[in-house]
Amino acid sequence: MSLLKVVVLYGGKSTEHEVSVHSAQTVCQMLEAKADKYQIYPIFISKQGRWFLQQKCGPQTPQDLPVTPVLRDDAHLAALDGSWTLQADVVFPVLHGTNCEDGTMQGFLETLDVPYVGCGVLASAMGMDKEISKLMARQAGAPVLPYRIVSQFKPYDRADLESWTQKTGLPVFVKPVRLGSSVGVRKVKELAQLHEAVSFALQFDTDVMIEKGVDHAREIFCAIYGDETRVVSSACGELRTLAGEFFDYNAKYIVAGGCETKVPADILPQTAQKMRQDSERIFRALRGSGLARVDFLMDKDGAYYFSEINTLPGMSQTSLFPQLFEACGEDYGQILDRLIELARERHARKAALSLSR
Ligand SMILES: Nc1ncnc2c1ncn2[C@@H]1O[C@H](COP(=O)(O)OP(=O)(O)O)[C@@H](O)[C@H]1O
Ligand SMILES: [Mg+2]
Repeated sequence: MSLLKVVVLYGGKSTEHEVSVHSAQTVCQMLEAKADKYQIYPIFISKQGRWFLQQKCGPQTPQDLPVTPVLRDDAHLAALDGSWTLQADVVFPVLHGTNCEDGTMQGFLETLDVPYVGCGVLASAMGMDKEISKLMARQAGAPVLPYRIVSQFKPYDRADLESWTQKTGLPVFVKPVRLGSSVGVRKVKELAQLHEAVSFALQFDTDVMIEKGVDHAREIFCAIYGDETRVVSSACGELRTLAGEFFDYNAKYIVAGGCETKVPADILPQTAQKMRQDSERIFRALRGSGLARVDFLMDKDGAYYFSEINTLPGMSQTSLFPQLFEACGEDYGQILDRLIELARERHARKAALSLSR
């Protein structure tokens, strides 16, 4: 049996570049262990957007070979000096955030006409947008918190936003609509901080969400894989922030031991069951395929709200995605196999569609 040529893409023009390299190291290691099945090509994307073939997945090194994606019948990738070409069987994007998880890369891979792991263009773009994904989640029957949107394109009515905030109650969370890793997110506890938090978030995105805050929220997560025909949800897990008042960038990546995970989460079985159902519904409503992690906020009375969906969640050994499935007795290596199969099946289904009338 010939080996399946798998390109693993990581890094990227994203604030989550380093997180992605970390995730990709695990994915490469796990796939390389299946040497009877896969030939792995680790491709690093620099923060400038340049592509490099690496000997071993990791941060950039002087030995990396500059390569470029190409639209050719016999190749998807070629070395800039012409010394190497590759016709990949599948691309595995282990990328997070803007330019990576938001449909941009997915559209590019569609144009290259190569099968790729994860959600397609539409689900990726909707998943990245906190407002659109909430509209879809609400439509699918999942609870969402009240919010307002402020846009760079239109001056907003400051008095109106203040009176909404007072009516809704403090704290509120102010965040860029399309970003991740808590970049630009502020918890506003006093009205006097509101407009500064909006201006701060507007530095990162043209649209900003002001959302009712769940004070001392519990953060619960559910992972998903599958496609239009069958969706599998994982156990629910909880992440507790030990550094700071909410799960900010510091707690996520800077402070060692900034957070603690509990899988499965200590919540009522019927709540966990309902969260799993909501996660599946949201994934379907977004026309998801491949994988995702669905994040919820829970208040002190046990009511929960859909917070966001990540269509390319963290995938390192210590990330929630593998842990949540391992808690259900599923093997991470087998899930990676399934994700590759799903990518190839979806590509084949699309290729079979007629292009003529
Ligand atoms: N409405 C909210 N109530 C309570 N905490 C919130 C709320 N919105 C965001 N947070 C806190 O901010 C963190 C980051 O916000 P999130 O919406 O998940 O954005 P990101 O895409 O950057 O992860 C969350 O993990 C949570 O700790
Ligand atoms: Mg989040």
